[in-house]
This record gives sequence, C-alpha cells and structure tokens, in this order.
Amino acid sequence: MGVFSIFPSRASVGAGEVDALYTFLLVVGGAMTMLIFASVFFFAVRYRRKSPNDPAPKAIHGSLPLEVAWTVGPFLVMLVMFGWGTKLYFQNYTPPVHDTLDIYITGKQWMWKVQYPTGQREINELHVPMGRAVKLILASEDVVHSFYVPALRLKHDVVPGSYQTFWFEPTEPGRYHIFCAEYCGTGHSDMGGWMTVMTPSDYENWLAGGSGGGSMVEQGAKLFQQYGCVTCHVTDHEGRCPSLLNVFGRPVVLDDGRTVMADEAYVRESILNPNAKVVKGYKHDIMPVFEGQIGEEGLLQLIVYVKSLSPPAASPPKPAASAAQRSPK
Ligand code: CUA
Repeated sequence: MGVFSIFPSRASVGAGEVDALYTFLLVVGGAMTMLIFASVFFFAVRYRRKSPNDPAPKAIHGSLPLEVAWTVGPFLVMLVMFGWGTKLYFQNYTPPVHDTLDIYITGKQWMWKVQYPTGQREINELHVPMGRAVKLILASEDVVHSFYVPALRLKHDVVPGSYQTFWFEPTEPGRYHIFCAEYCGTGHSDMGGWMTVMTPSDYENWLAGGSGGGSMVEQGAKLFQQYGCVTCHVTDHEGRCPSLLNVFGRPVVLDDGRTVMADEAYVRESILNPNAKVVKGYKHDIMPVFEGQIGEEGLLQLIVYVKSLSPPAASPPKPAASAAQRSPK
C-alpha cells in the first residue's frame, strides 16, 4: 500500500488552497463541536440537583446581548467559509480566456476517452505538461459520471447533453489517479485511470509521438465533409444556411429575436437539433437532424473544427479549413 498519508499529493497550483479551506472547516467544525460538548458536560455537572430538597432553579428569560453574540458570531464565521469557498469555486471553474491547452474528455460506461487538439487519443490516460493552464472540456456519452482527480483537488460532474469545463495548472511531474465519482452502473468502480504530469520538454516529445489521424481540426474537417455540412455551410452561395466563418465565440441573433453566444453548447445543439435555435433570416427544417447519428467524440471534433473557422483576431486563416474544401468527395 505504500506510505499512508492523510492528504493525497498536491499536483496543481490551486490544490494547496483547497487543503487550507478544508483544514479551516475542520478546525472550526471541531472547535464548535468540542465547545458544545464541553458546555453540555460542564453545565450538567455544575447545575445538577445536589439533594432532593434543592429548590427548582430560577427560569431565565433570555438576554439580548447573549442572543446577538451567538447569532452574529457564527454568522460571520459562516460568511468566511462562504466567501472563501465561492472564491475557490470561481477560481477553479473559470478558465483563463487565452492560451489554455484544451483537452476533450468523454465519459462513457465505463471509461474516460481523451482527445487532444493535436489529434492524439487515449483511454483512461491523460497527459498534461507542467506549468501550463490546462482546460478540460467534459462530455458524457450516456449517463452522469464525475471526473475526479484527488491530486488536483478537483471534481466535476459530467452530465449528458451538455459540456462542463474546469481548468488547472499542474505543478508536479508524476502519475496521479483519475476516478469516476458518480455511481454510473456496474462498471463504476473500474472507471478510472491515470493523469501523467510531464515537464514541458517531455511533453513535447510525447506529442511528437504522433497521432495518426491528424489533428482534431482535421478530424472535424473530415466529419464536416462526411456528413455533408460542407455543401451548405461553406460552398453554398444560395444563402440557405449561415456561413460558419467567424461565428464561434460571438453573439448570434435568432429568428425569435433572442441573442445567444455561439459557444460549444450552442454548436452542439445546432448540429443535433438544428431547429432549436435558428439564425435570424434562415428557414427551419432545412438542415437534417443529427440527433443519435454522431457520437460525443465526433461532436467534439466538429466543434473544434467550427472553432477553427473563427480564428482569434490577427491570426492567419486556418489551413484545415481550406484542406476540407480542397479534398475531393
Ligand atoms: Cu462513471 Cu461512475
């Protein structure tokens, strides 16, 4: 079993603060419990009825200062817990906007399937470089799972039909356990794996091992061809469907007047159920419904491809987009 330690090793920038909050909760909770039990014991002995002739004690009818003290005191302590917890929550679940390493993870009974932007794919293995902001985009193929890495002090439920995101910055090279922390069927206890944190140079070497199938953008571009999206969304000049160039990450006006953000969830929904949110000026029922036809991993590839059609300002146009148009069908 190796050396027993109360805390699992810490492998990310934020892990120490989670432990600090945990220790704070433990100390405050423990102190409160001891205070209450000690008081109960002390008062029971101190004010016990010493003989049958003892008169009944006088009733006390409250004391305003006392009431205020034991209401406001704990309230302030709770506010510290609340404030600290909220700060940590937003810290861990709000990825930096720029320069994250995005890794896509699909939970499936009973494994974690990992896709890297560069095209590598793994099962129950996650490789990340030290000192880089890593953003995980989590999807589920079937039921609710929960992606849990104790060494990061991070856990996130993975709910089918939507994407969940969290981020971390690994600090210590090593191998760390991944678990599924939501009961998801008979294979739940086997649904785990390992996260390997590598030094940046080792990571480069690992990536150089190659992916075989091309980058995620290229894989998405292939699907874009295969499902015929390309015929309308890129080459169509009749205006039947909206162009996908420079759409991702920007607001879209819908035909019912609403404005939504073109994020991962929006693109996903628009593929699976195009009539849910139709762009202003376009007709319903033009695009086929892909519900049940594309798996979560394929959807992620398509989303990464659509994302690549909206490069951040001042970066050159994407080679893969033109590759998709070039390659013969
Ligand atoms: Cu997946 Cu438990």
